[in-house]
Amino acid sequence: MPTATDKSSVKKPRAPKPAKAVVEAKGTPAAAQKMPSGSGKKSATSEARPAEVNTGETTLVKADKNTIVVARGGYTAKAHIGDCREILPSLEAVRTSQVSLVFADPPFNWNRAYDRWDDKMPEREYIDFTYAWINHCVQALRPGGSLWINIPDDWAAEITAFLKGRFDGTPGVPKLNARMHMENWCIWHYRFGQNTTKRFINSKVHALHFVKEGAAPTWNPDEVLEQSDRAAIYDDPRTQSKKDGMPPGLRVPMDVWYGQFWGRVQGNNKERRGYHDNQLPEVYLERVIRACSNEGDLVMDPFLGSGTTGVVALALRRNFIGTEFSPENAKSACERIKMGPYRVLGQLKGASTAIFEHRRKSER
Ligand SMILES: C[S@@+](CC[C@H](N)C(=O)[O-])C[C@H]1O[C@@H](n2cnc3c(N)ncnc32)[C@H](O)[C@@H]1O
Repeated sequence: MPTATDKSSVKKPRAPKPAKAVVEAKGTPAAAQKMPSGSGKKSATSEARPAEVNTGETTLVKADKNTIVVARGGYTAKAHIGDCREILPSLEAVRTSQVSLVFADPPFNWNRAYDRWDDKMPEREYIDFTYAWINHCVQALRPGGSLWINIPDDWAAEITAFLKGRFDGTPGVPKLNARMHMENWCIWHYRFGQNTTKRFINSKVHALHFVKEGAAPTWNPDEVLEQSDRAAIYDDPRTQSKKDGMPPGLRVPMDVWYGQFWGRVQGNNKERRGYHDNQLPEVYLERVIRACSNEGDLVMDPFLGSGTTGVVALALRRNFIGTEFSPENAKSACERIKMGPYRVLGQLKGASTAIFEHRRKSER
């Protein structure tokens, strides 16, 4: 997603450097993982990985002008090159609603340089584009499947109203493909929003979570637990004997997401992929994928970009399909999927996001 938030001062990012074709046929994620250029420090992924992470041998199965397929440990990630509105309806998994989780981080119509995509459509055209791709994603989902959309203030209202069926029967607006239920409206909060003195500084993007009707959603709270503030700040003994079934001291994260590794992937952020200006943090996708899908499930991202969803999905033993308009972005994303995540997945489990220091009893 375009992370600079003040459009009046948004600079055009450098044009993506043509990515080299995926050259190596084989490698392991740990071996292939390199620090982004300019950093001499040891890669986090060269350290021991938790057993749950898919560390099998990575193979480039196929790479032609339409499709790139990477496999690891019996799971595959497929990237289809082209406009998602044309590709998705042609995919068997979409036509037969086999997808368990869709994560979509579309272009925001902020005139960003997405290699080839025109990111400055007339507003009506952008909204029609949005409703069209959402309908394909809804079709792709199995009953009970989750749709997550990463979107700024500009479009969150229209998308929410569309997914809630509020426009059904409105002339000129397509009908939503299936009933969807809003499960959560989360916020990704970051501290380094674009500076401005003209209004409050924007420091968030919306993470909208909808579920397709017809079955219970997949929900794995135990996969994403954090230390509770009561435990982290106050050592409150009640947190050690919880009545909600969660382990001592831990709770489900709140719906505003921030903390270590949650910053925008910019500047010298070690996750940063050269020439991608719109990369989401791996921890964001890790939370969504762990909470809303299971090993072996099919995860889909219609706007692959630098490939963050595919990187984390394959590493967590999910199968993945993505679409990407730019062939160069798709190649680069698949190189990244092949390398695996930069961060050690699972390292934030049980960590605290408390914003106050630990207090001694006498300070309460
Ligand atoms: C905001 S970026 C996604 C960033 C991604 N979440 C990441 O972490 O790297 C949006 C991507 O969607 C691609 N795109 C734009 N319109 C598209 C379309 N109609 N079909 C497929 N891909 C498209 C752009 O080329 C761009 O790479």
